Amino acid sequence: MLSRVKPLATILAEGTDSEHGLKRSLGPWALTAMGIGAIIGTGIFVLTGVASATRAGPSITISFVVAGVVSALAALCYAEVSSKIPIAGSAYTYTYATLGEFLAWVIGWDLILEYALGAATVSIGWSGYFVNILHQTGLGWLNISPMWANGPHWGLAGQAGVSGYANLPAAGAILVITALLARGTRESGTVNGIIVMIKLLIVLFFIAIGVGHINGANYHLPPGGLAGMGGYFPFGVSGMLGGAAFIFFAYIGFDAVSTTAEEAKNPAKDLPFGILMSLAICTILYIIVVAILNGMVPFYTLNVTYPVAFALNSVGLGWAGTIISLGAIAGLTTVLLVMMFGQSRVWYAMSRDKLIPPGFTRVHPVWRTPIYSTVFFGIAIAIVAALTPINIVGSLVNMGTLFAFILVSIAVPVLRKRHAGLTGSFAVPFGPYLIPVLSAVTAFGLILYLRVGNPLLWNFFPLVWFAFIVWLIIGLIFYYSYGRHKSTVALQEVERMGISQPRM
Ligand code: ALA
Repeated sequence: MLSRVKPLATILAEGTDSEHGLKRSLGPWALTAMGIGAIIGTGIFVLTGVASATRAGPSITISFVVAGVVSALAALCYAEVSSKIPIAGSAYTYTYATLGEFLAWVIGWDLILEYALGAATVSIGWSGYFVNILHQTGLGWLNISPMWANGPHWGLAGQAGVSGYANLPAAGAILVITALLARGTRESGTVNGIIVMIKLLIVLFFIAIGVGHINGANYHLPPGGLAGMGGYFPFGVSGMLGGAAFIFFAYIGFDAVSTTAEEAKNPAKDLPFGILMSLAICTILYIIVVAILNGMVPFYTLNVTYPVAFALNSVGLGWAGTIISLGAIAGLTTVLLVMMFGQSRVWYAMSRDKLIPPGFTRVHPVWRTPIYSTVFFGIAIAIVAALTPINIVGSLVNMGTLFAFILVSIAVPVLRKRHAGLTGSFAVPFGPYLIPVLSAVTAFGLILYLRVGNPLLWNFFPLVWFAFIVWLIIGLIFYYSYGRHKSTVALQEVERMGISQPRM
């Protein structure tokens, strides 16, 4: 089952086809900017609030350190694999070459959770800041009823904001981005660079203003009521780890750098740089931001969809809150673009391999964009964004991404063993096992703490684990009824057997 791998030579040839291939225009810093553009988003601007209020309290700062370490371990593995196989398609492509078609399918199917549901999560965060801006800028006549600016929360605890019928601004944002992608308005390097600068300035602006409004007492609130056990760990160490599993979302995105491999000038060298540098910059900024945020207001007040602006509003700096909201909206828009673009890339790669119907590789005759997959996912993601609670959809994204991290970690030693001659510019330090094993184990550990949704079995089995397993089962049914027989690699196998049989 694991032996049907896609020959590495074929994969590498697909990526170096300079006639039909993509233009190589991205240097190391452009790739770093892309990484930052994909990383800083709903995780820090939105989920931090819910996580502080309902899981970790002030210890959310340590949660960010924990999730940062798990991400850094995985980033090292991504850096090695992407420098050896610098081809678009990311974890899906790496797995096809190393662990075989079956697991490649699983990962490709799983990446839908990361990119498509990731876009849904980000759009719900976008909606929170958008509605806050309408309130703050006096555009009262445009005010959207809370019933139509919030999705239903399905009776789940720990959900930020009010419950409503459907989150229309979130769905609207997805549809607008879909239209842009369908027309082929790709993020140009310059526009991305400008928005990344805005995003960084907004974060630095918050740090500069917020640091003067820290009240040390907020780090050690007395116990009782919403403050749980009080102190720095109001919900214990397990609350802190639960917070880490939840805000892990904030770090997702550095892996998206590896989906641009075919557009990088010197991918073997620049991809590892872009992945590791973007993650390092974001980790440092995140830790400072959350430490300040939890010092500004009591943690339990942060259970809102726009916590960073909320903290500034609470200390009487509404004008600064408005500036942050505008910057957050611009910043979240680029994350949406990267995620929806990443989804189309992975789906395109799978369709090119005929694991899914080849119709999805069809491009629009005039716009030259993969119109079917763009519109199909656009509509599906908009529906999910409108109707799903942010903590469920965000946790599913975390689950899918952590699972992808585990497989990419395993790919490191497999690649070194099966393709010893393949050299890249970057190798994970301390040999082929230590870092990959630590990466896989810690990613699995975070999955165990991802206990979101009402428990289903004996008070134990959380909804999000259940949803993930159901998703994988649907994927397996699809694979065994379609891709297993139709894939290009399967057909080549059949052809090879057909040629070799007469000789026998
Ligand atoms: N890390 C990205 C975000 O937080 C996905 O929005």
